[in-house]
Amino acid sequence: MKFFVDTADVPAIAELHALGMVDGVTTNPSLILKSGRDILEVTREICALVPGPVSAEVVATEADAMIAEGRKLAAIAENITVKVPLTWDGLKACKVLSGEGRMVNVTLCFSANQAILAAKAGATFISPFVGRLDDINMDGMELISDIRTIYDNYGYSTQILAASIRTANHITQCALIGADVVTAPPAVIKAMISHPLTDKGLEQFMKDWAKTGQKIL
Ligand code: G3P
Repeated sequence: MKFFVDTADVPAIAELHALGMVDGVTTNPSLILKSGRDILEVTREICALVPGPVSAEVVATEADAMIAEGRKLAAIAENITVKVPLTWDGLKACKVLSGEGRMVNVTLCFSANQAILAAKAGATFISPFVGRLDDINMDGMELISDIRTIYDNYGYSTQILAASIRTANHITQCALIGADVVTAPPAVIKAMISHPLTDKGLEQFMKDWAKTGQKIL
């Protein structure tokens, strides 16, 4: 499973990248706002750091304008993935931009039917939002599972990029289902390492080692 980092925070991306944990990056208008950076400048910086796909989202709502924005974003670097919303205009933009050989991430997916439409429009990635479905008392992970089954039934090549990931357990569930990619905030990726028995075990080893009076270096 590939890990994308869901942030426009360059130092946070760099820290995880140094550990080999970053296969790509996803951003959106809310994350650009949070970064306080200029979209073109920060996206260029991220693309220079991470060789994998870097999603940059269009903000127009009409297809022609989305296509124009998508082309401008794609000109930033080879590894830009143009992110478009799951609307008919977004799908039209997806069809045109993917037809030009660009990577397209169709975002704000909340149903299996939407995911089918995105695959047929040539999406490279579909982004189902797990956490936001859980927020309204629905089952985000069931959507990931349904899309996996449907895409496998028909051999769609669109990759499932599980988004709106809020917990480390979401990542485990996505891996078990077979999502191609998860995109998660840096804090959630870091939370994957936590286990109280690891902490407790290490503490005991350190205590016992101190009692030996030995040194390795
Ligand atoms: O990639 C989309 C993601 O950033 C949405 O996450 O937590 O705002 O629902 P969230």
